[in-house]
Amino acid sequence: MLMTVHLQGWLAGLACMFSTGIVFQILVRPCSNGEGVFFCPQSPKACSIVGKRYRTDYHFQPPKNWINDPCGSMYYNGVYHEFYQYNPNGSYNPNISYNIVWGHSVSMDLINWINLEPAIEPDTPSDISGCWTGSATILSGDQPIIIYTGLLDIQKHQVQNIALPKNRSDPYLREWTKAHNNPVIQPVVPGLNSSQFRDPTTGWIGPDGLWRIAVGAELNGYSAALLYKSEDFLNWTRVEHPLYSSNSSNMWECLDFFAVLPGSGGGLDLSSAIPNGAKHVLKVSMNCTDDMYMIGVYDLKRDAFVPDTVLDDSRLWPRIDYGNFYASKSFFDSKHGRRIIWAWSSETDSSSDDVAKGWAGIHSIPRTIWLDSHGKQLLQWPVEEIESLRTNEINHQALELKKGDLFEIKGIETLQADVEIDFELTSINDADPFDPSWLFDTEKHCREAGASVHGGIGPFGLVILASDNMEEHTDVHFRVYKSQQNYMVLMCSDLRRSSLRPGLYTPAYGGFFEFDFEKERKISLRTLIDRSAVESFGGGGRVCIMARVYPVALVDDIGCAHMYAFNNGSATVIVPQLRAWSMRRAQASV
Ligand SMILES: *[C@@H]1O[C@H](CO)[C@@H](O)[C@H](O)[C@H]1NC(C)=O
Ligand SMILES: *[C@@H]1O[C@H](CO)[C@@H](O)[C@H](O)[C@H]1NC(C)=O
Ligand SMILES: *[C@@H]1O[C@H](CO)[C@@H](O)[C@H](O)[C@H]1NC(C)=O
Ligand SMILES: *[C@@H]1O[C@H](CO)[C@@H](O)[C@H](O)[C@H]1NC(C)=O
Ligand SMILES: *[C@@H]1O[C@H](CO)[C@@H](O)[C@H](O)[C@H]1NC(C)=O
Ligand SMILES: *[C@@H]1O[C@H](CO)[C@@H](O)[C@H](O)[C@H]1NC(C)=O
Ligand SMILES: *[C@@H]1O[C@H](CO)[C@@H](O)[C@H](O)[C@H]1NC(C)=O
Ligand SMILES: *[C@@H]1O[C@H](CO)[C@@H](O)[C@H](O)[C@H]1NC(C)=O
Repeated sequence: MLMTVHLQGWLAGLACMFSTGIVFQILVRPCSNGEGVFFCPQSPKACSIVGKRYRTDYHFQPPKNWINDPCGSMYYNGVYHEFYQYNPNGSYNPNISYNIVWGHSVSMDLINWINLEPAIEPDTPSDISGCWTGSATILSGDQPIIIYTGLLDIQKHQVQNIALPKNRSDPYLREWTKAHNNPVIQPVVPGLNSSQFRDPTTGWIGPDGLWRIAVGAELNGYSAALLYKSEDFLNWTRVEHPLYSSNSSNMWECLDFFAVLPGSGGGLDLSSAIPNGAKHVLKVSMNCTDDMYMIGVYDLKRDAFVPDTVLDDSRLWPRIDYGNFYASKSFFDSKHGRRIIWAWSSETDSSSDDVAKGWAGIHSIPRTIWLDSHGKQLLQWPVEEIESLRTNEINHQALELKKGDLFEIKGIETLQADVEIDFELTSINDADPFDPSWLFDTEKHCREAGASVHGGIGPFGLVILASDNMEEHTDVHFRVYKSQQNYMVLMCSDLRRSSLRPGLYTPAYGGFFEFDFEKERKISLRTLIDRSAVESFGGGGRVCIMARVYPVALVDDIGCAHMYAFNNGSATVIVPQLRAWSMRRAQASV
C-alpha cells in the first residue's frame, strides 16, 4: 500500500518520560514541516525510554525498524513465511514508501519468529524505487512464487513483478530471484492511472485451468479490481472487464480475494477446485484506514465477482476490523486446513516517538477467518497457537453485575493478558431503540455512548490498563439496542482516556452486529492485551477491534495496571464465566 497520509503528522504535543519513572510534561514548541505546523518534542533523548515498555511481547514485529503491510504470507514445507514492507534504515516512515523492501521472518507456529535478511530489495529497473506489497501463490503443490508491485520512479509509476526462491531445498527460502521478464504486467489499460495500480492478490485457478490474479487500481476515477489470466504465472493477459469495480471510492489497494464455505470453520485452497456452495469474499483497503469486504459469488461464466448485496455508500460495508488494522492479507494454511488473516497496525503516537522507540508498526495476531452459517458475515478468532503462551489462569463464575458495579480482575499480569468473558442478559425489555443513522459513523456513536453514559442494556464490558485513580484507562464495552426486526449490539473500544499524554490520537472505535436474544442470550468478549496493543473480539468474532494505546502507567516503573468488569446499564447482567491468563513473551519481537 502507499502511504500518502501520515496519520501521525497532525498529532500535536508529546510528553517525555525519564528513566527514573517520573513523568515530566516537557514543553513543546511548534515547528513546521513545510506542509503545516505541528509540535515536536524538545528532548528526543528522554523519549527514547518510551521504547522498552510500549514494545509488544507477543504480537509480530521484527527486532527493530519501521514495518507496514504484511505481504506474501504462506505456509510451505512445514514453515510459515511472513514478509512485510520494511525500512532497513530506521524506524521512520519512508517518504511515500520510496525504496521500501520486503522484510522476511519464518515460524513453525505463527507465534515464535526467526528474523531473516530482507527477501526482495529494489535493485532492478522494474522495482528500482521500491518493492511494494504483493502475494505468494504455491503452484502445483510445490513451487512458491511471489508477485509484487515495483515502483519505477518518483512519479510513482507502478508495474507488477515476479520473484522465485533461489533454492527450494533451503527450508527458510532465504534468497529470492527476480524473473528475467519483469515487469510481467505493465499499466497499459485505457483509463488506468499508472500511479494507482498495485498489490496483486494470490492466484486462483479458473475452470479453464488458467491462473488468475486481481490488481487494485484507479480506473477512470473509480476503484477497480483488474483481472489478469496466465497459463504459467509469467505471461499475463488482461481480461477486458474488471473482476469487480465500484464508484464508492477512487482507488482500492491491498486486495484479497478468497473462497469460504458457509458454516464451515475450515479454509479453502484457491489453487484447487472450489466446492459447490462456496461463497467468495473480496476484501479491499481504502482511504488509508479501512479494510472492508463484500461477500458474493464468483460467476465463472462471466469471470466476475457478484456481491450478494451492493451498498453504494462504502461507510455501510462490513469491515474486517473496526480499529487500527489496515492492508490485511489472508492465506490458506494447508497444515491445519484453515484460512488465516492478519494486518498492519500502525503506531498512533508521534513520528518522533517512532524514531525514539527504534521500531514502528506491528501485525495483528494471526486470526482464523471463516463464514458464518447464514453466509452473511465473516468471523475471526486468534489462532489457537497463541493459547500456548497462556499462564496463571484465573477463573470466576456466576458474577452478578448490577448497574454501577465494578469487579476487579486480579491475579494476572494485566499488561500482558488474554481475557475471555461472557455477559448473559437477564431480560431484553430495557433495550433502547436503535437508530440506523448510527451505522454511518460508529465512532461518533461510541463517543456519545461512552462507558459512563447509562443505558438500558449496557454499557457493560471491561476496563483495562487502568491507573490506581482511574485517570487513565481503556474501555471495551457493549450496548444492546432494539431495532425493528431484531437486536443490534454495539461494541466500542474507547481510547479517549487511554493515556495522560496530551495530544495523542485516541479515538473511540466501534462496530455493530446483529443479536438473536432468544437463541444466544450471551455476548462474549475476548481481549488480548499486549502493552501498547489491545485486540478485541466481540460476539464470537463478529466485530473485531484492534487498537494501540500508550498509557503513562506503562512507562512508570510501577508496571501494574488494574482490570475490571463493569456494568453501567439499568439491566443487571450475569457473567457466567470469566477466564483470564497472563501471557508469556513470544519469540516474536527478539
Ligand atoms: C518525498 O520525496 C519526493 C520525491 O523525491 C520529494 O519531492 C519530497 O520533497 C519528499 N518529501 C519529504 C517530506 O521528504
Ligand atoms: C536505506 O539506505 C540506503 C543507503 O543509503 C539507500 O540506498 C536506501 O534507499 C535507503 N532505504 C530507504 C527505505 O530509505
Ligand atoms: C540448497 O539448499 C540446501 C539445503 O540448505 C543445500 O544443501 C544446497 O547446497 C543448496 N543448493 C545450492 C545450489 O545452494
Ligand atoms: C493519479 O493518481 C495520483 C495519486 O497517486 C493523483 O495525484 C493523480 O492526479 C492521478 N492522475 C489522474 C490523471 O487522475
Ligand atoms: C503469452 O500469452 C498469450 C495469450 O495466451 C500468447 O498469445 C502469447 O504468445 C504468449 N507470449 C509468450 C511470450 O509466451
Ligand atoms: C460509476 O458511475 C457512472 C455514472 O453514474 C457510471 O457510468 C459508471 O458505470 C459507474 N461505474 C461503476 C464501476 O459502477
Ligand atoms: C472513503 O473516501 C471517500 C472519498 O472521500 C468517501 O466518499 C467514502 O465514504 C470513504 N469511505 C469510508 C469507508 O470512509
Ligand atoms: C459508570 O457511570 C458512572 C456515572 O456516569 C461513572 O462515574 C463511572 O465511571 C462509570 N463506570 C465506568 C466503568 O466507566
